[in-house]
Parts: sequence; C-alpha cells; structure tokens
Amino acid sequence: MAEIRSIALLFFERRFALSHRKKSVKRIGVLTGGGDCPGLNAVIRVITKAAILKLGIEVLGIEDGYLGLIRNRMHSLTLDDVSNILTRGGTILGTSNRADPQHFQTGTDAEGKPIFEDVTNRIVEHFHDRELDCLVAIGGEGTMTGAQRLIERGVPVIGVPKTIDNDLMHTDLTFGFSTAVETATQCIDKIHSTASSHHRIMLIELMGRNAGWLTLYSGIASGADVILIPEIPYDVDVISEHCLARSRRGKRFTLIAVSEGAAPKGGHQVVNRIVYDSPDPIRLGGISAVLAQQIAAHTHLETRANILGHIQRGGTPIGVDRVLATGFGHKAIQLVAMQEWNNLVVLRNGEIGMVPIAQVAGQQRLVPLEHQLIAMARSVGTCMGD
Ligand code: F6P
Repeated sequence: MAEIRSIALLFFERRFALSHRKKSVKRIGVLTGGGDCPGLNAVIRVITKAAILKLGIEVLGIEDGYLGLIRNRMHSLTLDDVSNILTRGGTILGTSNRADPQHFQTGTDAEGKPIFEDVTNRIVEHFHDRELDCLVAIGGEGTMTGAQRLIERGVPVIGVPKTIDNDLMHTDLTFGFSTAVETATQCIDKIHSTASSHHRIMLIELMGRNAGWLTLYSGIASGADVILIPEIPYDVDVISEHCLARSRRGKRFTLIAVSEGAAPKGGHQVVNRIVYDSPDPIRLGGISAVLAQQIAAHTHLETRANILGHIQRGGTPIGVDRVLATGFGHKAIQLVAMQEWNNLVVLRNGEIGMVPIAQVAGQQRLVPLEHQLIAMARSVGTCMGD
C-alpha cells in the first residue's frame, strides 16, 4: 500500500514539475537606450555570440532604443554582424534618448503643436508579435525606468547598466564611464598647457547631468585646481579668491573643472534646452560661460570657458571598459539562461551580480558628500567651491 502511495506521489510530482516547467527561451531582443557611450558594442557582441553559440537562441537587434520597439524596427543579428565590433565606439543598433514610450509624439494638432501619447501598448504588442521571450535593455536610468513599466505589463527584462555619468543606483560602476574619464582627462591636460602659457583661468565644463562623478574623477586625474560638482553648491567669491591666491603665490593660471549640473549656493543649474519628448527633458549646459564672466569680473584675470561636450561620449572604449562590458553582457546572458527576469546586472565590491530593476528605476546615484574622493581632492589643496 505504501509502495502504491509513493508511486502515485512520484507520478503527481512529475506531472506537477512538467506543467510548471519554464517555457524555453527561443528568441530575445536587445536594445541600447539613452545617450550612447563606449562599450555598447562589446555588450551586444557577447550577448549575441553567447546566445547563438552557447544557448542556441536567436537575437533580434532592436534599432534606436525604445523607438525600434515602438515602430517595430528590429532585425536578426548574426555572428558576422557582431564580428569586429569590440573596439568600436557608439552602438551598431543606434540609440535614442528621446523616445519615451509614455510620452511619445504621435503627430501635431491643427496649430502645429505636438501631440503626445502613451504608446506602451504598441511596444507590448510588437514584443509578442515578434515572439520575443525577453528584452535585454542596455541603458541608464531612463532606459531602466522604461524597462520597469514594461515589466509591469508582463514583459520579462534583463538590464545592463551603461552611462558616462556613472549615476545608476546599486552599481559601483557603469561601463563607458572609465573611457569618458580618460577622454576628459586628456582634454584637460591639453588645456593645462595652453592655460599655463597664456596665464589664464580656464574653465572646463563636463557632462554628468546631476551627478559629479565624471568631473570629480577627471578633475582629480588632471590636477584641476578647482572642482565644482552638483552635489556641492559653490560660492563664486570663494572660487575667485582661490584663483587670486594662486596668482599671489606665482601660479599664473588656474584650471577649473566644472560639472554641467553645478549650481551656486541658493541658485539654479544652467539649462541649455528642453527636449519635450525625452524621459529626462532637461539638457544642462552653459555654466562655464556664466562662471567665466563672473570670475573675470571679480579677479580681473583673463578667464575662458571650454565645453567638452559629446567628445566625452565618443571614441573607442579603453581596455577596462571592454572587459567590464563583456563581463556585464556575459552575466546578462546567464540570467537569460536561468530566466532570472527583471534584474539589472551590477558591479558591487568587485563582483558582478544583480538587483531588481524596480530598485534602480527613477533614481540617480549622486556623489555622497562624505565620499573619499572629495576628501582626497581637498587634501591636495583643490578648492571644491564651498
Ligand atoms: O547621460 C549622458 C549624457 O551625456 C549626460 O551627461 C548629458 O547631460 C546628456 O547625456 C546629454 O544629452 P544629449 O546628447 O541629448 O545632449
């Protein structure tokens, strides 16, 4: 009797296991969203290679970020497509930091004013029409916020963190950041020599939105005399006095690395433009020119502004970014194989792991005021503007 019972139990367990077996993954979609950065192609390469060679699944490359999902523009990626792209900057898939599915421009009204609509339904429809089992979204905070909305509509997503801003929550590093630091450092070094020859105060404006990581790293790396980041509101008198004090000591030039998002105490950031159909419509820029005028008026020293701009996002990824991007992509495909949906690949304490995308959506990782980099900068006499 006991034997019959255990056979029946075994039979039941088998049937239960079969009916609850995960559906096998046959096809995944991959997109790159938001502003581009060096290393995106390295991720696309490892995902496509491992998917085809190790898992035997198809990869559809979605064109121009969420725009490709909205417009149903995607194509199958072959091994040939991803050959020879490891060292290439940008993204072979194209990207967009404007196509916000919740606020997408679908046309214009009689007066020519844009009409915006929530087109998330369209994305979900195209995802199912193409018989995708999962979406791999390579992007920053805006892309992950969009991914979270898709997750809530039942789309399985794996996230991979990129951005030169390094401002994604729960990851110590995003790929693309280290290359941007290298590029910015080289640019500041070049400005250093001309600043010194002409005895000028030189402002160098860096990207990073509301986070000062890029400015702090490249400012320290290039020995900037003043570093201004959004997390520490500045006082223009303090900065000017620092320049004058250097001058009195015989240092006839000053390098000021300033984040595009820096703002004076009690004041506002400088907005360059508003991009209404972008998940983050505010585009910062122009603070260096404002500060140059104020510092010149205060110090009577020749002061010039330089905006590094998109040069910081371009070019070939440096070695560490190629390795990090490949490591992130490798982890992403492991999560696909294990069907560990709705997680973002992260780097924490030197280990590649994962966190739920819900924990990073809609948040920004700013530089903590007690961060050792700030203390490090101050210890070599750098003025932080406060
Ligand atoms: O997020 C990356 C980034 O380069 C930011 O540092 C910058 O504020 C923004 O994108 C610029 O965006 P755009 O290319 O649309 O001007």
